[in-house]
Amino acid sequence: MTVENVLPVASRYVPHTGNVAAQSPIAYKTTRLMAGAVNVAQMALAEAYINGLEIPDPLFRQVMDTSMSMLFQHAPALLAPYEWVLQESDRLAESSRALMQVQYDLPQAMLNQMLGDWPLIYPKYSMGLWENGATDLEQSQIQMIDRVIERLEIVDGDRILDFGCGWGCVPNYIMSKFPNVRFTGLNLSHHQCEYIRDKMQNPDSYLSSGRFTLHEGDLNEAQFDEKFDKILSIGVFCHVGNLTNAFQKLASLLTSDGKVFIHLITARIPNNMSSGFTHKYIFPHGRYWNYDAIPSHDRDLKTVSQWYVNGINYHKTFAAWLQRFDDSQATVKSLDYGMDYAKFRRIWRFYLLLMGTAFATCDGEYNGNGQYLLTHA
Ligand SMILES: C[S@@+](CC[C@H](N)C(=O)[O-])C[C@H]1O[C@@H](n2cnc3c(N)ncnc32)[C@H](O)[C@@H]1O
Repeated sequence: MTVENVLPVASRYVPHTGNVAAQSPIAYKTTRLMAGAVNVAQMALAEAYINGLEIPDPLFRQVMDTSMSMLFQHAPALLAPYEWVLQESDRLAESSRALMQVQYDLPQAMLNQMLGDWPLIYPKYSMGLWENGATDLEQSQIQMIDRVIERLEIVDGDRILDFGCGWGCVPNYIMSKFPNVRFTGLNLSHHQCEYIRDKMQNPDSYLSSGRFTLHEGDLNEAQFDEKFDKILSIGVFCHVGNLTNAFQKLASLLTSDGKVFIHLITARIPNNMSSGFTHKYIFPHGRYWNYDAIPSHDRDLKTVSQWYVNGINYHKTFAAWLQRFDDSQATVKSLDYGMDYAKFRRIWRFYLLLMGTAFATCDGEYNGNGQYLLTHA
């Protein structure tokens, strides 16, 4: 197996405080209690901010950076606030309907402005690649998709499944490069599917080429008549709680010599992590798998290559989204968010600041994204 960007051995530390793998029940319980306390502190800050506490962004970033850096380096077990974060869930993806309501089916005019919407690059809700010199969000997303093409070894004529396809950005771009590639996109978000259907009627879009098929539906129930040469899933596995079930499903959809590419948020710590704030306000049951979780679930699929993508790339992506979010206030404040707009705005600013800072902590070496190439086991 190819593994790139491995942390120096000295940095693959033993946590000083709290260890979710602790054998002694007392040590384990103490760790769980402390993780609960860290969560209570983060939630108190979040609720105060949402209710109007004024904290200048630089101070917010400094407080978060200092605490995150201590937690990542010395007490990563405290980043797992709930027991469910440490175990596989019953279903492949939990709380899917709640997730659509809280997050993906929000007014698209807001999300599209925040994420960016260009003639070729549609809204893409995942990390852009900045480390090769991209100077803006659109370029960073193009460079990331180019990297996916290279690492998934896409060739013309491939039949590809996009497992959680967002607004169809990745299929549209890849089909622009490969005239005989065929794509199927799967997505539960009705609003995002409406965006795609609109593009499927637009002659300027590659989604209208007859080579794209859309399935509006849940990952849990995904079934297709055909098998795929390649399957990609970008930014979706933070919503997947059961890797065993997911790999079984993906393997059942893959041709015998097919390849799967998974791109997810990860942390180079021993345990998975989550956050009380994101669970409540942004991604119900959202979890961030530890970097070794994918290869350690090799059964129906096996990991043949694994890459760590430095978190600074996501820090810059979040900074661009925050800037665009702030810049679009005048036009998006009248949309229906199911709550007072001022409150909605503060929840989202907290989210964008929190995540943006967490990815920059420790120079992006602990909290970043993982990319994995898998084949049949
Ligand atoms: C973070 S977005 C990433 C979208 C896209 N891959 C990209 O990079 O822009 C996650 C996507 O997964 C979809 N998704 C999440 N849970 C799902 C589920 N249970 N079934 C189907 N789609 C789901 C969301 O609607 C959203 O489109």
